[in-house]
Amino acid sequence: MEITNITEYEAIAKEKLPKMVYDYYASGAEDQWTLKENRNAFSRILFRPRILIDVSKIDMTTTVLGFKISMPIMIAPTAMQKMAHPEGEYATARAASAAGTIMTLSSWATSSVEDVASTGPGIRFFQLYVYKDRNVVAQLVRRAERAGFKAIALTVDTPRLGRREADIKNRFTLPPFLTLKNFEGLNLGKMDKTDDSGLASYVAGQIDRSLSWKDVKWLQTITSLPILVKGVLNAEDARLAIQAGAAGIIVSNHGARQLDYVPATIMALEEVVKAAQGRVPVFLDGGVRRGTDVFKALALGASGIFIGRPVVFSLAAEGEAGVRKVLQMLRDEFELTMALSGCRSLKEITRNHIVADWDQPR
Ligand code: FNR
Repeated sequence: MEITNITEYEAIAKEKLPKMVYDYYASGAEDQWTLKENRNAFSRILFRPRILIDVSKIDMTTTVLGFKISMPIMIAPTAMQKMAHPEGEYATARAASAAGTIMTLSSWATSSVEDVASTGPGIRFFQLYVYKDRNVVAQLVRRAERAGFKAIALTVDTPRLGRREADIKNRFTLPPFLTLKNFEGLNLGKMDKTDDSGLASYVAGQIDRSLSWKDVKWLQTITSLPILVKGVLNAEDARLAIQAGAAGIIVSNHGARQLDYVPATIMALEEVVKAAQGRVPVFLDGGVRRGTDVFKALALGASGIFIGRPVVFSLAAEGEAGVRKVLQMLRDEFELTMALSGCRSLKEITRNHIVADWDQPR
């Protein structure tokens, strides 16, 4: 059957993958209220399209931290991609670079920063989890720099792992034939099987719960790479992130996998954009599945968006070809949305092109 939108990959992935793996990819925390809300909230925003504008040429290119990319659609870090497909992160890296966009590699990838760099050219960011052992962090950041990664996405919403009940029931753990490759040489590449989620236990053992704003400053003393603070959900933290030297902000609720009942990211976006006052770019991830979603995020002030689950699901279904297709479909839908809204370039997308259900009547 022909695939016509990116959401359709989820059902194929569900059929193909072991239950433990599918559940790990798909799940949110606890009641999964935020998981549904990340999608539902997009439907509370409608378009105010402009007509009779010559849209025979559409330019979707943009610049992120100085790097020119083909579209404002990028790949979020998702852990352990070789559980989805033997080529895992390699396939994702190749698909991203073929599409002319940025891939973010997870700290918990099943391929190392060096492995991913060896797949060929491409603009890549490295997502960082801060371990209790700061030597581990410093080494890893240095390796990412040497491997040509262009920015650090510092994940700040995970002092402990959110409670993902499917992972607890399944006793989720990394399959024994795989390792968290970046940590292999540091004896932190394996995950024990526990009578809980193996990942939750791993996080409790290794990840630094004391992480605070001063560590964002510390990180700048060990790297010259720009730092994106990933996991901001309100104005107060947006201001603190900028004060702490962030080069950008990612509005994210970790795909609804951490604290349940936080708002959908698209609901939190505008507050963060206002607080940032144009000082740093603001990005969004969470529930983006349509070109119309991309447009809505940009209309609310995002400089770009990232996708998470669609990548692992398409990877499971069709490997690199699947991820390429996801990026192409989202690109095509976004281009069509721009044309039908009367926008020829990203800077022509304005707040007036949408109306949100929380807006005052005009
Ligand atoms: C994630 N996410 C994530 N974030 C991060 O900073 N480091 C990581 O290793 C992971 N791993 C991960 C695995 C899986 C299976 C998922 C679904 C998510 C969160 C991710 O970067 C992003 O915030 C969300 O996935 C975005 O939401 P959508 O697009 O999945 O709805």
